[in-house]
Amino acid sequence: MDRLRIVGGERLQGAVAISGAKNAALPQIAAALLSPHPLELNNLPAVTDVDNMLGVIRLHGAEVSKGPGAVVIDASAALSKETSYETVRKMRATVLVLGPLLARFGHARVSLPGGCAIGARPIDMHLKALAAFGADIDVEGGLIVAEAPNGLTGARIVLSSPSVGATETAIMAATTAKGETEILNAAREPEVADLAVCLNAMGARIEGAGTHRILVEGTTAWRPATHYTIPDRVEAGTYAIAAAITGGELELTNARLEHLASVVQALEAAGVGIWPGDRGLIVSRSAPLAPVDITTEPYPGFPTDLQAQFIALMCCANGASLVRETVFENRFMHVPELMRLGADITLQGTTALVRGGRKLHGAQVMATDLRASVSLVLAALVADGETIVNRVYHLDRGYEGLDRKLHMCGANIERLGE
Ligand code: EPU
Repeated sequence: MDRLRIVGGERLQGAVAISGAKNAALPQIAAALLSPHPLELNNLPAVTDVDNMLGVIRLHGAEVSKGPGAVVIDASAALSKETSYETVRKMRATVLVLGPLLARFGHARVSLPGGCAIGARPIDMHLKALAAFGADIDVEGGLIVAEAPNGLTGARIVLSSPSVGATETAIMAATTAKGETEILNAAREPEVADLAVCLNAMGARIEGAGTHRILVEGTTAWRPATHYTIPDRVEAGTYAIAAAITGGELELTNARLEHLASVVQALEAAGVGIWPGDRGLIVSRSAPLAPVDITTEPYPGFPTDLQAQFIALMCCANGASLVRETVFENRFMHVPELMRLGADITLQGTTALVRGGRKLHGAQVMATDLRASVSLVLAALVADGETIVNRVYHLDRGYEGLDRKLHMCGANIERLGE
């Protein structure tokens, strides 16, 4: 298992190319199963979650050919097989194949994902949405068995909360359902909107993605398509925080300001400068960091996927801040590890009280999930001495070349083998 060795104290400077969004790429790969025509996906990030998802659709008979910067998926000979627990356990997002398989083949069998490091994460809303299209859903011995031998029928689906995954499942199932589907209280994340752009290029008829109300007109008129996946707003936010925490200046090429409004607002309140450049965004800090309270919320609120990184930043602010997590019930696994680096944080329920300004010191720390791990890397960039981050495979799931990108803009970071 690889580890990262980081020696803190370097100001980051230079340019970082922001990769394609992992959380946009994963449903788009699953969506390829809907159509018998090829889908070319450009700008997929080189991360292990994407490799895993490509592996899953290969298991279902899709052919995947990789070219420079693009992947072509040909699902003309795809079939609906059982997606095993072994596969789903590795990556919960695998459950996103359920909707496309059911929509195309009229049946799907996918293992029920369990809980994960950041919470119980049930999929009840996905299953309820599929049942609303007329599918019979049974959960037997840890396996979801979904049947719709006569196809799916358009429906009015009101999500009990704006789940990203359930919205994506509902959109994908609706693409081939007979008649019109209305999805209310839909998630508004840019990744949901990008899925609709991709599906519409494939021949689907979706309107309103990116708002709370999505309309889908069922179709079977699929066609070959090419899509360019949006840049990763969470990766961009992570590097913005890397520039801010080290008092440096980074150009985040490809980053999109419009996807980062709440993050920009919080960073500006902390004394960080962010402005659009010719190729993306420029982030710079020279003034001391001010404490800022944040609450995570569905988009366009402050993203839960940047909460851990923001806590690391607040550890370096002049004063105390409150960070409230409202999306996941157990997303503070980074806190005890940050405390090993000298951070002063008190957890109470869903709130972290971060008392900033204490000097951080290098230590051995353990990565527990993707975003928790990267917050440890950020803290290590400013800690005195050497930090070793263990279990780096968590980072490789969602950050393309993190150590290489940080090294190129001046960080003292190296990857150590076993
Ligand atoms: N939830 C339910 N029932 C459901 C679905 C969700 O109770 O049927 C709950 C979840 O347990 C959670 C909340 O609703 O408490 C929000 O979950 P959501 O469905 O919106 O999240 P997701 O689709 O499972 C995606 C991202 C996550 C990101 C969240 C929130 C992908 C592959 N994953 O997960 O990304 O945190 O949306 O924005 O798109 C990450 O990249 O590190 C990551 C965890």
